[in-house]
Amino acid sequence: MRHQGAAAPCAEGCGDDTTTAADRQSGNTADNDVTRTAAAVVGDRPHAVSGFEYVDGELHAEDVPLSKVADEFGTPCYVYSQDSLTTAYRTYDAAFDGLPHLVCYAMKANPTLAILDLFARLGSGFDIVSGGELARVIAAGGDCRKIVFSGVGKSDAEMEAALAAGILCFNVESASELEHLAAVAARTGLRAPISFRVNPDVDPLTHPYIATGLKESKFGVALADAHALYRRAAQMPSIAVRGIDMHIGSQITELAPYREAASRMLALVDELAAEGITLEHVDLGGGLGIRYRDEVPVTLAAYATMVRALFAGRRERLLFEPGRRLVGDAGVLLTRVRVVKPGASRNFAVVDAAMNDLLRPSLYDAWHAVDPVRARGSDAARHFDVVGPICESGDFLALDRELAIAEGDLLAVRTAGAYAMAMSSNYNARPRACEVLVDGASAHLIRRRETVAELHAHELRLPTRPH
Ligand code: LLP
Repeated sequence: MRHQGAAAPCAEGCGDDTTTAADRQSGNTADNDVTRTAAAVVGDRPHAVSGFEYVDGELHAEDVPLSKVADEFGTPCYVYSQDSLTTAYRTYDAAFDGLPHLVCYAMKANPTLAILDLFARLGSGFDIVSGGELARVIAAGGDCRKIVFSGVGKSDAEMEAALAAGILCFNVESASELEHLAAVAARTGLRAPISFRVNPDVDPLTHPYIATGLKESKFGVALADAHALYRRAAQMPSIAVRGIDMHIGSQITELAPYREAASRMLALVDELAAEGITLEHVDLGGGLGIRYRDEVPVTLAAYATMVRALFAGRRERLLFEPGRRLVGDAGVLLTRVRVVKPGASRNFAVVDAAMNDLLRPSLYDAWHAVDPVRARGSDAARHFDVVGPICESGDFLALDRELAIAEGDLLAVRTAGAYAMAMSSNYNARPRACEVLVDGASAHLIRRRETVAELHAHELRLPTRPH
């Protein structure tokens, strides 16, 4: 074991590095004062301000050196910039100034309570996909009247909980779900507000695992079937038809698929209106991409201009479900180099973060920038695969990167605010990393590092056998 600080005994911290006293105390989220860091809404930029800059040769999160975060909270650790989160939300929201609209943060991208709390204080709604996510919004103090509930397999219990909470809208994704929801609502004496999520059959030109609006996708109902479904829903006493919804995919860097999909959806809205089914809102989903490497993201100005053109003269309220765009840039995964291992054909930097902390490179071949927290002279640079300690060849964070590093160095894996902690696991019995939210010169622990004891907490050994 190298560079792990004081190696903790297994019951507490085996497998996680430098677990500190701060890790063991509960998260401090209550007094984050959003107004204090409220940055002025910036002009349009390709994506949110990063919040992570080099100052005197060391990478900082806002005003806090990342080495200080590592000393205090240990590694691996997700570090977020509150200013960057705030600016991303405000920029998205401000792009639609003057249009009736609601931004519903797609919390699957990062469902940590303090992050939800921050967005709730900024006025955000939420796009949820499970009863667990509903409970998180409630625990974080979010407003249930601003929740839309997406997902292809909602259970009766989830529907019941969302009805009781008084959510804004169920995004219904099949004929069967409509029948179930109507029955649940009738049983509980409530009316369920609904949209149909329509599948406009448009190619969003993204990774196939995150394309959701093609006709072969499991999501939504075919546009051709939607008409009949609206007619049926409009006759159900326990259903209140409210809107229409689409979400065509994620990490989309072109406007054309949105334009095409939204136009098809609006044609249906007009057909429905002609027969007396008027909709109050149109939900355009999320999916706007960010820059991981050299992508050129759609600017919010361009997206908003397209939306304004499509909605000129219309009266529906607009809903949006951005996830990645609000949080992706606002986080890094801070990790320490444990072992430098030169190889015959490749050099390996074995770090203390792994595919269980950031699955995206292994699952989608995703590229995340990896930067040294403190740069060394570039003449010492070599090509490295940055890999984790997990026993899988697919356990890598970055391949073939030119880095000048030594054992013990800290690295920041960039753009780890979205779908990083959210998709983490305990594979190889690794406790999940802690999360820290930086606000100016203060670093707040918002999720303490898991302990190994906690990993065993839900398990039961075999019953004792009679001899
Ligand atoms: N609305 C719905 C119904 C969704 O399913 C999603 C994402 C979003 C909104 C937000 O999409 P965003 O704005 O974040 O692109 N794990 C993958 C991404 C999966 C996205 C799933 N749905 C990744 O790491 O790239």
